[in-house]
Amino acid sequence: MDDSIAIAPDQLVQRHAQPGMSLLAVLHAIQDELGYVPPAAVAPLARALNLSRAEVHGVITYYHHFRTQPAAQVTVQLCRAEACRSMGTEALARHIETHTGCRFDAEHQHGATVELESVYCLGQCALSPALMLNGTLHARITPQKFDAIFAAASKCVEVTA
Ligand code: FES
Repeated sequence: MDDSIAIAPDQLVQRHAQPGMSLLAVLHAIQDELGYVPPAAVAPLARALNLSRAEVHGVITYYHHFRTQPAAQVTVQLCRAEACRSMGTEALARHIETHTGCRFDAEHQHGATVELESVYCLGQCALSPALMLNGTLHARITPQKFDAIFAAASKCVEVTA
């Protein structure tokens, strides 16, 4: 059993893999519950959905949305697609890296405090540059606006830690 989760992978899959559900729907349900899809769930998922482990693993790793380990306490997902790029997202990315001391898309350790991810379009092109911070969407981000929302999120982490 994966020691990092409180439920056995077989039970986790049984809970979410209802008849007729697609693999993607089950993966979303698991990630919604745990915040990630534990690697130990791959084999039970394959058995439950009559797929190969390679097929399940392939889907999990193909979609950037799915995590295979818990997220950092503060996760910043910055849009780096065209509309946001035209509105200065690359300069903003450099500011965020300097401000946080982290690098975008770097491997992070389990239990890390801050994680920076590049994403490609958050559906807020008219309000670019856009980012998500711990799942909350923020638009028309400036360096000053980022500093304020990052400070607020970091304060919440300190309070709950
Ligand atoms: S390009 Fe950034 S939200 Fe669409």
